[in-house]
Amino acid sequence: MTGSNAGQFIRLGETHRAQIEIRIDGESVPCLAGDTLLTAMLLNGRLLRHSEFGDGPRAGFCNMGACQDCWLSLGSGERVRACTTEVRSGMVVLTREAS
Ligand code: FES
Repeated sequence: MTGSNAGQFIRLGETHRAQIEIRIDGESVPCLAGDTLLTAMLLNGRLLRHSEFGDGPRAGFCNMGACQDCWLSLGSGERVRACTTEVRSGMVVLTREAS
């Protein structure tokens, strides 16, 4: 998700907030306190999840809780919408459904 993959988003402001880390598919990813999960993930990569219906990677659409394209699984088993969920330090995120 990081490395050579440029992020879909670019942070232009609010860089003063505290840096925290989350884990996406086992990889540490930096983000800032107060970011939504969608923002944090698309600053560091180009997708949110792989579709459970086999129609490819998904990156959200509306960014306001309406389209339902950004549902993610957390390590806790909880399912959340990335666009309406604030990151927490140490949050574990999975981009694929557990089988
Ligand atoms: S991006 Fe549409 S509901 Fe989250």
